[in-house]
Amino acid sequence: MSMIIITDQEFTSFQRFIYDAAGITMSSAKKALVGGRLAKRVQQCGMRSYGEYFHLLASGNAATEVQTAVDLLTTNETYFFRETKHFDLLRELATAARKRTQPFRVWSAASSTGEEAYSIAMVLEDCLQGAPWDVFGSDISTRVLQRARAGHYPVERTTHIPPGYLKRFCLKGMGAQQGTILIERGLRTRVQFQEINLNAPLPQVGQFDVVFLRNVMIYFNEDTKRQVVDRIVAQIKPGGHFLIGHSESLNGINDAMKPLAPSIYRKP
Ligand SMILES: C[S@@+](CC[C@H](N)C(=O)[O-])C[C@H]1O[C@@H](n2cnc3c(N)ncnc32)[C@H](O)[C@@H]1O
Repeated sequence: MSMIIITDQEFTSFQRFIYDAAGITMSSAKKALVGGRLAKRVQQCGMRSYGEYFHLLASGNAATEVQTAVDLLTTNETYFFRETKHFDLLRELATAARKRTQPFRVWSAASSTGEEAYSIAMVLEDCLQGAPWDVFGSDISTRVLQRARAGHYPVERTTHIPPGYLKRFCLKGMGAQQGTILIERGLRTRVQFQEINLNAPLPQVGQFDVVFLRNVMIYFNEDTKRQVVDRIVAQIKPGGHFLIGHSESLNGINDAMKPLAPSIYRKP
């Protein structure tokens, strides 16, 4: 099979495509990455060039293919209990909310394959001791959401799960499932996932005590960041918390949220 090379002009088309679809800004340094991520798909679709594939996406009659291209162009790296200080804070907040009768609600707003949402659920189930809770995960990529709903992961991905939680919430695969874990059914069925593009008006999601918006703003330009953050902040309860990635900041993006520590904010 001969290799097709992506031209500068074709790359510009895909830069515009992913910006329009997801608000993601890709610098010209990403040309090889885009070419690599789409190469197999371009050939599978029987296309002779990236330009031809772009025309298919732009034709307006290829919604499923547009979703596939978005899936391929998004970066989905994640892991359980990423940035432990956020989970320490969540533990404190949940422990203080034990007496509440209203569900303690947390949103993993760019959940990728679900590790973040299940880490949150483990902490809530442990610390709330029977008080009601609700974890909601969302992402633009349908492919990662399928994996999130399955809650089935290779064992190597579980190294950051505290041993007590691993024992309590993860089933070890046997036989053909050896080398994998499955999030225990009781926990798994209490975490809901939905496809949501944060770069568009939000569906009705309700109000949250804590929102995790981690490691996704890095892909947005300032304007998109501002709009996405405004939309999400509107869904946080007064006094609720907003957590972002450690390399991200709300500086110049939103000054209504009060910084408590780097990457941790509180809504007044
Ligand atoms: C690097 S992962 C971060 C996962 C997790 N929050 C963490 O910090 O480990 C970024 C995720 O953001 C999602 N994403 C990118 N643009 C998005 C958008 N416009 N709306 C919703 N999700 C988006 C991607 O599909 C990807 O799964």
